[in-house]
Amino acid sequence: MKRISDAVNMDLQFKDSTILVTAASKGLGYSVAKILVQEGAKVIICSRSEDSLKKAVASLGNHSRYIVANLSRSAEIDNLFLQVKDMTPKLDGMFVNAGGPPPGHFSDISDDDWKSTIELTLMSSVRLTRNALPLLRKSESPSILYSTSSSVKQPTDNFLLANSVRLAVVGMMRTLANELGHEGIRVNAVCPGPIQEQGTEQISSSLKLDDKTPRGETKPSNALRRLGKQDEFGKPCAFLLSPVASFIHGILLLIDGGLYRGMM
Ligand SMILES: NC(=O)c1ccc[n+]([C@@H]2O[C@H](COP(=O)([O-])OP(=O)(O)OC[C@H]3O[C@@H](n4cnc5c(N)ncnc54)[C@H](OP(=O)(O)O)[C@@H]3O)[C@@H](O)[C@H]2O)c1
Repeated sequence: MKRISDAVNMDLQFKDSTILVTAASKGLGYSVAKILVQEGAKVIICSRSEDSLKKAVASLGNHSRYIVANLSRSAEIDNLFLQVKDMTPKLDGMFVNAGGPPPGHFSDISDDDWKSTIELTLMSSVRLTRNALPLLRKSESPSILYSTSSSVKQPTDNFLLANSVRLAVVGMMRTLANELGHEGIRVNAVCPGPIQEQGTEQISSSLKLDDKTPRGETKPSNALRRLGKQDEFGKPCAFLLSPVASFIHGILLLIDGGLYRGMM
């Protein structure tokens, strides 16, 4: 059976495009940056650790640059954009991603935990969007893609904070779709399910049922009964960010191998 990774390349029309990919020194953000570069875009990536960013850029190649920023901090997002503006006069896309909130049940979670999740997950999305819009307005094909989780469709056990606060990002995305559509700025969101950790792709092209998911479950409970590969996340994200997806706007795309079992 032919998998997406073997498929014939489609020209995603990224020539002369610059895309900001946040929280991308590793993991899902890195997987998106990698495919964007392969498809001809220039990328600017960020995360908190300069060491990790240096390694990522060394592996991504000449068309990538990095900026150190903690997305939980408003001032660091402002500073991120001061540096982005030094690097590029326009942005053609932004992949909005951040680290995950900690696990925990309702009774274990303090007000401070709620506040820090709102900063990390919701306010980072708000501030990144606010800062990026003037640069996106200079592009002929601007697009924002928010990365959330399959938990916005079906809550993940023991992840109350993520299950709750990520929905606010979806609400913002759906509202922005209406507010920004007339300007031609596309906004969409992706909902990853269990994706294999970076660097473990070589272990097996099709993971067995007893491989662990990133959240420690022993058997992926999605319909495909395996974890997704990093590229299986990066490729659909690159497509949604690209001019080829020019009429796709305001959607929530599950990339979860059939984890979500609902009808709608
Ligand atoms: N992997 C999955 O299967 C899956 C499924 C559903 C949802 N998600 C969600 O998707 C997001 C990414 O997951 P992942 O698996 O790629 O995680 P990961 O492998 O741990 O990577 C996280 C990335 O985010 C950066 N980061 C973390 N906190 C940050 C902050 N405050 N400011 C800036 N950068 C930050 C990290 O770099 P530094 O440490 O250098 O900052 C790293 O580059 C998380 O929110 C996760 O909950 C993941």
